[in-house]
Amino acid sequence: MTREIYEAQTAARKAALREKLLQLLPTGEIYKTLEIGCGHGHFLVRYAQAHAERFCLGIDLIAQRLAAAQRKAQRAEVSNVHFLKARAEELLGCLPMGFLWNEILVFYPDPWPKKRHHKHRLLQEAFLSQLSQHIVPNARLHFETDDGDYFEAVCDCVAQHPNWERVDEHVYKVDTLFAERTGRNGKHAVFACVKAGDKEAGNTTEQVCV
Ligand SMILES: C[S@@+](CC[C@H](N)C(=O)[O-])C[C@H]1O[C@@H](n2cnc3c(N)ncnc32)[C@H](O)[C@@H]1O
Repeated sequence: MTREIYEAQTAARKAALREKLLQLLPTGEIYKTLEIGCGHGHFLVRYAQAHAERFCLGIDLIAQRLAAAQRKAQRAEVSNVHFLKARAEELLGCLPMGFLWNEILVFYPDPWPKKRHHKHRLLQEAFLSQLSQHIVPNARLHFETDDGDYFEAVCDCVAQHPNWERVDEHVYKVDTLFAERTGRNGKHAVFACVKAGDKEAGNTTEQVCV
C-alpha cells in the first residue's frame, strides 16, 4: 500500500468515526463512562444496567467481540450502553470539541509480556497524557490486569506523571472474560486525573458538555 492510499484510508476512517460520534454522544450534563478494550461487554452491560443514568461507551478493535457485546445489551434491554469499533487513541482524537469523559475503564488490556513489545502497551506516558485532555478534572481511570509487570509499570508511570495520581478509593469487581480466564488474579488500581487538559495546548480544565 502506498503512503497516499494509507493516508486517504486513515482520513476516511476518522471522518466516519467523527460522524458516528456526533450521532451517538449525548449532549448536556450526563455522567459519561468509556471502556477501552471492552471485549464481549461482560462488565459494561452490567455496569450500564446498574447505572441507568450514565452514558456508557465500549470500544474494541475486534468486530466479533463487539457484536457479542451488542447482543448482550439487547438481551438485557439496556439502552444507555453503546459499542463501537475504534482504536482508543483515534477515538480520543475524533471526539467533538469540549466532550469530556468522567470515567475510563481499562480491564485486562493486552499485556505484551515480551520486553521488546512493551512499546505496544496501551497505558503508557503518552496515552495517559492524551487521555487527560479528554476527561473532566478528578475523573477516574480504573485499571485491572493479571500481568504483574504491566501493573507495576503503569503504577510507576502514574507516580511520575504530572496529571495523574493513584487513589484506589473504590474498586470495581471485574467479571470479564479475561478476568475469568486468568482465574481472577487481577490487580486493580484506580487513578485520579489531578490535572485535566494540557495547559500549553490551551485546553480548558472545566467540564464543557456538547
Ligand atoms: C485481553 S482483551 C480484554 C478484553 C476485556 N476487557 C476482558 O477483560 O475480557 C484486550 C482487548 O483490548 C482490545 N484493544 C487492544 N488495543 C486496543 C486499542 N488501542 N483500542 C481499543 N481496544 C483495544 C483488543 O481488541 C481486546 O479485545
